[in-house]
Amino acid sequence: MRKIPVQFRLNGSDRAAFADPADNLLTVLRRGLNDFGPKYGCGQGTCGTCSVLIDGELRLACLTLAAACDGASVETVSGMANGPDLHPVQVAFMEHFAAQCGFCTPGMLTAAKALLTRNPNPTREEVVEAIAGNICRCTGYAPIVEAILAAARAAPAQRRS
Ligand code: FES
Ligand code: FES
Repeated sequence: MRKIPVQFRLNGSDRAAFADPADNLLTVLRRGLNDFGPKYGCGQGTCGTCSVLIDGELRLACLTLAAACDGASVETVSGMANGPDLHPVQVAFMEHFAAQCGFCTPGMLTAAKALLTRNPNPTREEVVEAIAGNICRCTGYAPIVEAILAAARAAPAQRRS
């Protein structure tokens, strides 16, 4: 199949790749641009571990055509830390032991970031709802919810969008 050029801003840097018209964004990120942060889990929109932000909106990279991202801003878990400085949500995940095998963690962190950007002070119910599309087989979810609530309580100056 003939490849098409796709250009978008990935974690603040202009990136370009060639993709099949049917390629999803996850394929282009992982195989074309070596961004292995978003994981391939189910590949059919069920598990959430491929979650990314596209123009600030939480999206499943496995269900998003790469071509549809041309000209967009794409943020992945790979860009959450600022150099050695982890995002407060990442710090909170470590402090609350919110990751075990870690396979769901990219999607959980991304969903948490999306939530706290639009709602800096969520209730527990809102946190649970925000991560409802992300499946975790290890933690039982409680430490993840506690970590996100702790990140929300962190000083606003610490929290980057
Ligand atoms: S890999 Fe995209 S939702 Fe599971
Ligand atoms: S930590 Fe293993 S799937 Fe969530």
